[in-house]
Amino acid sequence: MKIALLGDTGMLGAKIIEVFKAQNQELLTPSHSEVDLNQPHTLEKFFQSQSFDVLVNCAAFTRVDACEEPAKFSLALNVNGTALGWLAKFCKKSGRILVHYSTDYVFNGRKEEPYLETDPMAPINTYGRTKSQGEKLILAENPHFYLIRSSWVYGPKGRNFVDTMVGLFKNRSRVEVVDDQVGGPTYTGDLAQFTWDLLAKKAAPGTYHFANSGYVSWYGFAKEIQRQTGLSRCDVVPVSSERVFRPAERPANSRFDLTKSTQALGQPPRGWEEALKDYLTKELKSEAA
Ligand SMILES: NC(=O)c1ccc[n+]([C@@H]2O[C@H](COP(=O)([O-])OP(=O)(O)OC[C@H]3O[C@@H](n4cnc5c(N)ncnc54)[C@H](OP(=O)(O)O)[C@@H]3O)[C@@H](O)[C@H]2O)c1
Repeated sequence: MKIALLGDTGMLGAKIIEVFKAQNQELLTPSHSEVDLNQPHTLEKFFQSQSFDVLVNCAAFTRVDACEEPAKFSLALNVNGTALGWLAKFCKKSGRILVHYSTDYVFNGRKEEPYLETDPMAPINTYGRTKSQGEKLILAENPHFYLIRSSWVYGPKGRNFVDTMVGLFKNRSRVEVVDDQVGGPTYTGDLAQFTWDLLAKKAAPGTYHFANSGYVSWYGFAKEIQRQTGLSRCDVVPVSSERVFRPAERPANSRFDLTKSTQALGQPPRGWEEALKDYLTKELKSEAA
């Protein structure tokens, strides 16, 4: 199996490289300028000129608040939405497998229960709308695809909540964190391994929800980061979302039902606290060293 990866410089892409290489996988990693999702002709050229069996797409416009800026909208829609129609079309035409990632932000967060893969999408911010458009275009082409929705992703080589909190705990005496949004944190190492497992096991194509097991609020997540790092001098205060202005609205409920990915893996994803411990002890420590 020969795999091409888009978005190799991003947080998830960097982990896909690490996890797939540990499986002795050959990886083709075209640069952003070589395959630009905002330039359809570069996609076509890549599909015509390169030999690979699976396309893993980690490329995206992920700056959620920037998506609300009118000047960024068409770029975000092209990269997260329109380009997925092209990728799905080229994969279908050439008999290749497409792996793509989406987000909890395709839901409005008003469901009382964890979200199932089959729940209707109803995004409440522009980023979510662009990502849901990408999903719809993939489904319309219906190639052999894996669409993996994930939530609250963190890992090395990216801007993420864990690193932000560690920095704040070191430098501030007080931090306010929202307590009325609940979800499932996801370590990129586990998400990359899940992706590999789906491909290696030739799991049924379709949409999968993946996060580490268990649910927590952002405040609870921050408190656990503080507990595990021992950076206890900072006062962590729970607040409502209304107190923290952000241009893009966030869903209150980002919990995923993980039954389908549990069945595909043969076991539930490991708990979020354990995954966090791995990240803090192995990765963050070595980055700081
Ligand atoms: N981060 C989260 O919390 C989260 C949560 C749920 C789902 N996801 C999904 O997971 C996937 C990976 O996210 P991430 O956090 O790893 O993203 P990221 O760190 O922002 O990386 C994005 C990657 O996409 C590349 N890229 C951006 N625009 C491009 C374009 N026009 N053409 C080609 N490449 C382009 C970037 O390259 P440059 O560095 O050159 O710009 C970078 O390699 C995305 O689909 C995202 O929606 C993320």
